Amino acid sequence: MHTTIVMPEHLEVASEALRRGLLVAFPTETVYGLGADGLNGVACQDIFRAKRRPQDNPLILHVLDRSGLLDIAGEKLPTQCEKLIQAFWPGPLTVVIKSSPRVPKEVRAGLDTVAVRAPSHPIARRLIEGVGHPLAAPSANLSGRPSPTTFDAVFEDLNGRVPYIVKGSATQVGVESTVVDCTTDPITLLRPGGIGVERLAEVVGDVAQPQGDGPVRAPGMKYRHYAPQAPLVWIHSDSPVVIKHHLSDLQSRYGRLAILAPDSVELAQSEWVERLGPDAASAAHRLFGAIRALDAQKPPAIVVVWKGMRDVGLAVSNRLAKAASIKVD
Ligand code: TXA
Ligand code: MG
Repeated sequence: MHTTIVMPEHLEVASEALRRGLLVAFPTETVYGLGADGLNGVACQDIFRAKRRPQDNPLILHVLDRSGLLDIAGEKLPTQCEKLIQAFWPGPLTVVIKSSPRVPKEVRAGLDTVAVRAPSHPIARRLIEGVGHPLAAPSANLSGRPSPTTFDAVFEDLNGRVPYIVKGSATQVGVESTVVDCTTDPITLLRPGGIGVERLAEVVGDVAQPQGDGPVRAPGMKYRHYAPQAPLVWIHSDSPVVIKHHLSDLQSRYGRLAILAPDSVELAQSEWVERLGPDAASAAHRLFGAIRALDAQKPPAIVVVWKGMRDVGLAVSNRLAKAASIKVD
């Protein structure tokens, strides 16, 4: 399949393709998404093929606002959901609600709920407007790979597999949206993301956070994810002594290491170093791009140094937990 690159000034080409049931990858403020008309089940089915995504992993629908959400809601919005969208939309928050039967089963993977968010990115918004329907869009990577935060990353994974990619800039947030289940009381955190759980709690009070055991609530969270080709070792520590000890250990095991670490971590000179920056927001912004960049050097192992459970730092830890072959504390 030939992949056409669409420049943002020619977005009507992309809207037209989406209206015809074709796939278009486009930027959002979190990561690039692979979009289809969210009310066209056949088009949505194509997303699974292009990404090699397991069929039981439902998609997020992208709308402009509350009124777009009401169009696909199966019942009155729960009060907590109203409060959350009032506070955080448009932006990186996805709410899971009871679905209207209008939403194709391909989007919901057979569940009676649907995940919905209103992106803030102008290109995503213009596409939703141009199509006149919600857009189904998972992250625009091949299933299992790090999510794409740049056009180049989308192209690397999907060139030849999708008909259109919109060429926007690097995404701002860098990790995906926070997903919350609003059908439970209190609401349940299904996936930490661009909006910290502390900020949600300020608005709704209690947020349930299921622990590792128990049934998987967001089907997508059960697979190994976000993974580079090289084995990824996560050093979960902020102690200079512990980090140094693990690095020298890993060096003798793997030889040369590719290292991704916060600015504050002192490292000996090495060719393969990327930085996560000074704080959690920069770490989220840089995480996936840096992992892809290091992986391109074909190192024997990628070592990521990170410890952070607050705000968007929790999302970074969650993605590392899914990507890592080994975690050391
Ligand atoms: O930031 C984002 O959310 C990006 C951009 C493109 O908007 N999209 C994204 O989609 O990350 P995806 O498909 O990679 O992740 C969707 C997550 C998965 O973990 C999936 O299992 C969960 O949302 N999900 C979708 N529908 C659900 C539902 N009805 N109930 C529970 N979890 C659901
Ligand atoms: Mg994804």
